[in-house]
Amino acid sequence: MEIKIRKAKLEDAKRIFLIQKKTKEFMTSDGSKYDFFDHDEIEDWIRKRKDQIALVAEIDSQVVGFLLARLVTRYWCLIEAVSVEGKFRKNGIGKKLLEELYKILKKEDIYIYQAFVRSDLKAPQNFWKKQGFKPRKTFTWFDKRL
Ligand SMILES: CC(C)(COP(=O)(O)OP(=O)(O)OC[C@H]1O[C@@H](n2cnc3c(N)ncnc32)[C@H](O)[C@@H]1OP(=O)(O)O)[C@@H](O)C(=O)NCCC(=O)NCCS
Repeated sequence: MEIKIRKAKLEDAKRIFLIQKKTKEFMTSDGSKYDFFDHDEIEDWIRKRKDQIALVAEIDSQVVGFLLARLVTRYWCLIEAVSVEGKFRKNGIGKKLLEELYKILKKEDIYIYQAFVRSDLKAPQNFWKKQGFKPRKTFTWFDKRL
């Protein structure tokens, strides 16, 4: 199985959107059908090359995973979302997406990488730990709908 990691193109937005939609870990706590990013936002993310990075993983020309990250400060990258389609997980794809991100940002002296993970989901936490991320303080998420 050959895994290809590359920068996302505009035509990948649809697949990224669908993978995101199927990722149950991205749902809000009330289980509502909340889309993390809508389709247009994903296209914007792909267009903006300066401080937003969109990568995809491809197998046999089919996008099976993606990573969206943005630069928060000159040194700090926030990984907003990474997801691999269920049946392709545990094949090193998430790791490869991260490695490509490091490669791209190495030239720009980015040395802090951050990701948010729900505290009730152990599997993604294990993934980040395996990638050398350490859990920081626990925050309480406050939100409000108007
Ligand atoms: C988290 C996620 C992106 C990992 O992708 P993946 O392609 O399955 O991960 P990899 O195969 O590259 O795994 C890399 C390492 O993490 C470990 N790992 C991955 N998923 C794991 C799990 N569910 N439980 C324990 N360890 C796990 C692997 O064993 C591997 O370890 P190794 O390097 O020692 O072999 C994928 O599980 C996913 O899409 N989850 C749903 C979305 C999500 O929760 N994203 C994270 C929050 S933004």
